Amino acid sequence: MQITESTHTAHVLTADQFTPEGMEMLFTRADEFQELDSTMEGRRHMAELHLGRRIVTMFYQPSTRTRISFEMGAAALGIGCPSTENAGEFSSAAKGESIEDSTRVLNMYRPDAIIMRHPESGSAKRAAAVSMVPIINAGDGTNEHPTQALLDMYTIKREHGTLEGLSIVLGGDLKRGRTVKSLARLASKYAGNHITFVSTPELRMDRDVTDALERTGTTYAETDQVEDALKGADVVYWTRLQKEYSNGNGTGPVSGGFILDNETLAHLPDSGVIMHPLPRVDEIHVEVDEDHRARYFEQAGNGMYVRMALLDQIFETDGSSVDW
Ligand code: NCD
Repeated sequence: MQITESTHTAHVLTADQFTPEGMEMLFTRADEFQELDSTMEGRRHMAELHLGRRIVTMFYQPSTRTRISFEMGAAALGIGCPSTENAGEFSSAAKGESIEDSTRVLNMYRPDAIIMRHPESGSAKRAAAVSMVPIINAGDGTNEHPTQALLDMYTIKREHGTLEGLSIVLGGDLKRGRTVKSLARLASKYAGNHITFVSTPELRMDRDVTDALERTGTTYAETDQVEDALKGADVVYWTRLQKEYSNGNGTGPVSGGFILDNETLAHLPDSGVIMHPLPRVDEIHVEVDEDHRARYFEQAGNGMYVRMALLDQIFETDGSSVDW
């Protein structure tokens, strides 16, 4: 086993780098981990798989699910994982250190991968440019959140048995929400999906995402009519207002029309699945938690297995490029 710098490092920076075949590989492995995790024997087996590896998580923005699922997943695979959960405040960034310098320094401790979340769009790419070990983008500003989108697709696959020919409704803060951007990009890799974007005009999806959909021939519509959008949908994926990017001149309160409650969801077919990357604030009413179509907590749980599969594949190739 070689632990040297690689010119073809298995960075995970954007949803665009994944193919349906690559995702299938990941999802199969995530299924296996899910199965192994259900017995102590399976757990002991997994804990041997990557013994001696170590990763580090650097989060410059709050996180519950992403960081904990990476860290729990790493522990399950025998990978050591120290972390800085509030790097913006408690790391040298607070003293003015650049992303590049922090990344260079972390590299000196020879981690096998660096998991990074940062408020600036493009920050993961900047880190990758100076890193000899894989950088995994755990959310860069309002740009992308590829590992979230992978677990979202995995959840959809488990629920519907396919990732093709689906009617997917993405709603809420589409302009600043990074999860919906990565998810739309991944959904566009499969044939026959139709995406309906639901938002106020100010929070519309970025044009570079809709342009990407057009390039792949993925059809889409944009509307502010929630109930109409839900009719015939296979998946409704809701998001919160990203107030942290408002700079004090916020886009106003969530209007009633953008709250999913039992009444609105009466328009969603029985087979429709209700998803949310979480955290939820008030855009999905708590009464919906009892709805048999609600999957947001299972979705979060799936995240650990998908992230384990991702780490597993990166370490299978010793951190050099993976064919996703
Ligand atoms: C998301 C994020 O950080 O972009 N959270 C997550 O990772 N599940 C969604 C959000 O914060 O709204």
